[in-house]
Amino acid sequence: MNATVTRTPLIAGNWKMNFDHLQAIAFVQKLAWGLKDAKHDFSDAEVAVFPPFTDLRSVQTLLAADRLSLSLGAQDVSQHQSGAFTGDISAAMLTKLDVQYVIVGHSERRHGHGESNDVVAAKAAAISQTGMVPVICVGETAADLEEHGAAAVPVAQLRAALATLPAGSPFVVAYEPVWAIGSGQAATPEQAQSVAQALRETIIEVSGEDAAATTRVLYGGSVTSENIAAFMRQSDVDGALVGGASLKVDEFQRIIRFRQHVGA
Ligand code: PGA
Repeated sequence: MNATVTRTPLIAGNWKMNFDHLQAIAFVQKLAWGLKDAKHDFSDAEVAVFPPFTDLRSVQTLLAADRLSLSLGAQDVSQHQSGAFTGDISAAMLTKLDVQYVIVGHSERRHGHGESNDVVAAKAAAISQTGMVPVICVGETAADLEEHGAAAVPVAQLRAALATLPAGSPFVVAYEPVWAIGSGQAATPEQAQSVAQALRETIIEVSGEDAAATTRVLYGGSVTSENIAAFMRQSDVDGALVGGASLKVDEFQRIIRFRQHVGA
């Protein structure tokens, strides 16, 4: 849409509830070595991993000790600052672990844990207020798709999440059709582009042209090394949120190195 602006693609691995801290260390070491061997240029694609809470400290220590260029993300956060919230983790706790990104609004939280647009918005604000970047997930169910088309629900979810974000604070959007998550049935690149474009138009409206030009809009839902290049060819798709395929180190590396086959 804006040919003069280049957005560094972001390839984000959402591990969900997989890997204990020892497995996390082994995985990140292998990934970092593989990318080093391949002479991966991180300006071609930023790489972020989103381990479970219990792994964050171990991964943080490894990234710092070996000066690895991977970014660290968390999968969730409390909307509250502190207090009597048994089991919850605050944004301040995450910033102490050098966490840069936090996923909010993932469909497994919206549908599995009943998180409303209001909760998602409050979490996004809590993340931004501590200087981290929310990765705001939006997406329609199969029923929404039939009833309202592809873009209506994701656009409404994004509007709700942006409503409470402090002006000028950076964010990432991940378009993840619920029917495509973990199903092996990804959206087509054209479907992803059309919703990503609608989301970018929404960002223009709510946050302005500059924010829209620099904000990365990811696609997520059954991304593999086979389909990543086609998504990355779309002008409004700036990366991917990868679930299952981010747990296999060779496969995740092929996804990260999509530029090797983007022209194919
Ligand atoms: P998937 O998950 O790649 O396994 O479909 C994506 C996600 O839920 O973020």
